[in-house]
Amino acid sequence: MEVTTVELQNFLSYTQAKVFFDKGLNVVYGQNAAGKTNLIDSVYLCSVGRSSRHNRDKDLIKWGADAGAKVTLTVKKRFSKHTIEFYVDVQGKKHILVDKLPIAKIGELMGILNVVFFSPQEIRLIKESPADRRRFMDIGISQQCKTYFYALQRYNALLVQRNKILKTYKGRPSLDSMLEIVDTDFIKVASYIIKERKKFVEEIAPVAAERHDKLTDGKEKLTMLYETESVDYADVEGSLKALLKQTRENDCRLEYTTVGPHRDDIKIAANGVDLRRFGSQGQQRSAVLSLKLAEIASFEKRTGERPILLLDDVMSELDLKRRTALFEAIEGIQTIITCTDKIEFPVATYFNVQDQRVIKI
Ligand SMILES: Nc1ncnc2c1ncn2[C@@H]1O[C@H](COP(=O)(O)OP(=O)(O)OP(=O)(O)O)[C@@H](O)[C@H]1O
Ligand SMILES: [Mg+2]
Repeated sequence: MEVTTVELQNFLSYTQAKVFFDKGLNVVYGQNAAGKTNLIDSVYLCSVGRSSRHNRDKDLIKWGADAGAKVTLTVKKRFSKHTIEFYVDVQGKKHILVDKLPIAKIGELMGILNVVFFSPQEIRLIKESPADRRRFMDIGISQQCKTYFYALQRYNALLVQRNKILKTYKGRPSLDSMLEIVDTDFIKVASYIIKERKKFVEEIAPVAAERHDKLTDGKEKLTMLYETESVDYADVEGSLKALLKQTRENDCRLEYTTVGPHRDDIKIAANGVDLRRFGSQGQQRSAVLSLKLAEIASFEKRTGERPILLLDDVMSELDLKRRTALFEAIEGIQTIITCTDKIEFPVATYFNVQDQRVIKI
């Protein structure tokens, strides 16, 4: 797929801007604080429904503006064309329209525009908490499958409900029967999430390994494993049920559900060494790149469409070898890349960002 235009109104540092992107490589350059990441963010939020770095929608409105923030994006796919409008009104309420029709749920946005986002902060995908790796899986799968996105929302609601029951009925005779009510659904939804995540990890693992092999001259064998509390994959529902029973006492004491997909992780290792804890910066960075490249391949395999690649400020982080590997892998994929200095590429369209404007060069 391909983003053809993005129009910004009162969005972050922009008052008014319209950008016509090329279907190949788009290089957005400009000084620090010029608004490059803001532009990338406008594309990202039309895909996922929220900003990659601002938690509150209200913060997307340009300071001092007397109207809301608006991003209008057009995307061209193999067999269709769509317009996504993302609007935050002055009260900070978000409205999303797809082809002029307001969507009732964020889930309806999933899959319209697919992006793979890569920035220096993404190294946390390997380094930081399991929550970051769950987010990687959840955003990746949700973009490919609406059902998964809804299941995730349902799961979070069930988890809150279950934890509330643990707290409220602690020590009461009715606890077991109360838990039983929520556990039927809880197990069903949790099992679905576990299976989908495992499938996703198993799908991208060999591609990531192949990319990583190239990046490291065959020195590192990258392995990825979905980690979930001793669940038997032949019978996820059954084993999860048994596990919940087993941990019930402990859960009650802690007033919190200690097993389930909300606790899961991906084990990422190079030559058997756990990169989460023992990887060097460079190893972690290469692994993230391998993972992202694999994610692109996964999108294409599942949806038949190539996602849009957003590369924010990563050029300075990558050595020549990694850069080459990256550009080999993104052949034929629309890419928007930001950098402070105008990096020359054999074929690219250039945009200069300055004074809150985006100028095609
Ligand atoms: N709501 C807002 N209204 C106006 N300006 C904002 C708003 N939110 C953030 N900004 C400003 O936008 C400016 C540009 O940010 P951005 O991160 O896009 O720059 P950048 O070009 O990516 O810079 P760098 O090269 O340092 O990464 C920042 O100086 C920031 O203060
Ligand atoms: Mg930036």
